[in-house]
Amino acid sequence: MIKQAIIPLAGLGTRLLPLTSVFAKELLPINGKPGIEYILEECVDAGIQEIIFIISKKKKIIKDYFYSDTFYKKIIKKKSDPRIIKEYKKILRFKKMIKFVYQEKPLGTGDAVLRTKKFIKDDFFLMLLPDDLIIKKNCSKSMINIHNQYKSSVMASMKVNKNEVSRWGIYKLGKKVNKNNYQIKDVIEKPKIKKAPSNKAVIGRYILPKKIFSKLENQKPGKGGEIHITDAIQSLIFDNEKFIAHDFLGKYLDCGSMNGYIKSSLEIGKS
Ligand code: G1P
Repeated sequence: MIKQAIIPLAGLGTRLLPLTSVFAKELLPINGKPGIEYILEECVDAGIQEIIFIISKKKKIIKDYFYSDTFYKKIIKKKSDPRIIKEYKKILRFKKMIKFVYQEKPLGTGDAVLRTKKFIKDDFFLMLLPDDLIIKKNCSKSMINIHNQYKSSVMASMKVNKNEVSRWGIYKLGKKVNKNNYQIKDVIEKPKIKKAPSNKAVIGRYILPKKIFSKLENQKPGKGGEIHITDAIQSLIFDNEKFIAHDFLGKYLDCGSMNGYIKSSLEIGKS
């Protein structure tokens, strides 16, 4: 059973400037709801019981969003608006599930994962990258089912344009496990077109083994001087740890770039 999820939220969000100069990108509304709530709903629906947010001091506004009890209580006392009461109850339900840990320097996703080490209880946990929304089908839920069946690590995967491979973690396909699922032989963080082993990219949903922490502890910085989760995963794969790539069925929305963010709002508004 996968019961814990982690969400790295300390990123600076430079691709969304100027919106992110004073605000956390994960709280930006997508069709009237902060992006992070879509991610939380996916977790709850997938059976996750505890969620660890990795934030920084600069992103404290995210904690404030879930800790505004005094504010809500005052408003509700004055005016018992059913909509506000319902929203407050939802925030309270999320708050009960969330733990906060801090990553003070933006040293990469791998470093963010390492901050959660002492809180992870089971052999495997889920990680969701909040820039990647997947709608219409719960990707985490499907991945948990695959994990339960094969007892392996799992990553969400999607075919991307050949000339865009350097934007993603790209993996080398091994044998087919079944429809939509493949074993992974190798994974490379943001390769040049010539070095890319395929045009299949890793998207921001991962079921990772606890073992990854010891890899991360000894890992040297990679591309751009950051500690990448992809490099730790590559090292585990080379140690024969089984990783399955899951071609998810939902629709992928990139909320981390300005174009993608605008498109996401339009797309979710339609459905
Ligand atoms: C991260 C990962 C990359 C993955 C991508 C999915 O990159 O490092 O391997 O393909 O998320 O969105 P980032 O978006 O942080 O540059």
